[in-house]
Amino acid sequence: MIDLYALTRPLLFKIKPEMAHNLMIKTMKTGLMLPCSKVNDPALEVNLWGHKFPNPLGMAAGFDKNAEVIGALLNLGFGFVETGTVTPKPQHGNPKPRIFRCASHEAIINHMGFPGVGMNVFKDNLTKYLGNPKKHYGVVGINIGINKTQKHPAKDYAMLIKMLGSMADFLAVNISSPNTPGLRDLQKREPLLDLLGEIKEARKKACGEHPPPILVKLAPDLDEEQQEELAKTLMDAEIDGVILTNTTLNRPEALPQEFTKKQGGLSGLPLTHQSTKIIRNFYKLTNGKLPIIGVGGISTARDAYEKIKAGASLVQIYSSFVFKGPFVAHSINQGLLELLKADQLTNISEAVGQSVNLGKQGSQATNGKL
Ligand SMILES: Cc1cc2nc3c(=O)[nH]c(=O)nc-3n(C[C@H](O)[C@H](O)[C@H](O)COP(=O)(O)O)c2cc1C
Repeated sequence: MIDLYALTRPLLFKIKPEMAHNLMIKTMKTGLMLPCSKVNDPALEVNLWGHKFPNPLGMAAGFDKNAEVIGALLNLGFGFVETGTVTPKPQHGNPKPRIFRCASHEAIINHMGFPGVGMNVFKDNLTKYLGNPKKHYGVVGINIGINKTQKHPAKDYAMLIKMLGSMADFLAVNISSPNTPGLRDLQKREPLLDLLGEIKEARKKACGEHPPPILVKLAPDLDEEQQEELAKTLMDAEIDGVILTNTTLNRPEALPQEFTKKQGGLSGLPLTHQSTKIIRNFYKLTNGKLPIIGVGGISTARDAYEKIKAGASLVQIYSSFVFKGPFVAHSINQGLLELLKADQLTNISEAVGQSVNLGKQGSQATNGKL
């Protein structure tokens, strides 16, 4: 099969990254994207948080910030989409340029700072998608964040939950973007326990009998001690899941200096092992009892499978969509099926945590049974 994206990529990469992204969103919104045959196989289905995910691969937060192309992404073979990060008020984000590509290493640095239309327009967009009778089969999460000027983060999160909580299949609380000053300071036990208490209270008020699960998205730049403290905090706060990981502030030496001097969070291939390591560690620290969405440098089915075996119940991509194109979801899912077959497994959930030794008290609670 001819890889159309590989042919058009040199042209697309002549355009500035943010413009190329906006062009992609516009094209997807027209509905004129080439259809992609989906990999529909019960072996890939994941049951989690009361939802049936048609496959374990999602689009990560930041691609569809304004809930504009959920249907198009599901149509390309993703099993779920995490829209956002959405903030209460619209905001411009950091000055441009603020996305930088390094094609030779399939890496991106972004310094976006949550630009977006704000929760009112976001809600209109999502309402339009959810009300469409031709809605696609797939799960839709909402990633929530704070406005740059907000000094009391809990206020923004509560406002977003009040406005959007009942529309979400899951809520992702983003406390790990490196591009909003002070946000990562919430990744400490006391402030996080307080915040999660207020978030749960807001959910109770806003969502009544069908509360969406709450997930927390963490950074990859956490040492062992911080990981241990945070894993315990999330368990103590009875949070439903964790997303590991956001972008890193690390700058591996192998990357060109011209690229590494850019400000922001690094994603793509150089993040692969750093994020898998944290996934494995959280899986161990929580005895496999806290469902994990694994994200960071997944480019192939093998990368995805490695994260699943390290303890991720679901996985996501962003950067490889940029470098490999819109059909990457199809090829990763196809590859996962082959890997399952080679391992003689009948469902992807059986592979969760397979490469982690939990010892005696270990449980495989994330295997689609929650
Ligand atoms: C341009 C860009 C914008 C992003 N924006 C967000 C965002 O708004 N919220 C968020 O939680 N993560 C955001 N991310 C992080 C991704 O969701 C993901 O965690 C990270 O890129 C690692 O995955 P990858 O290596 O597959 O890209 C963004 C990433 C990129 C490249």
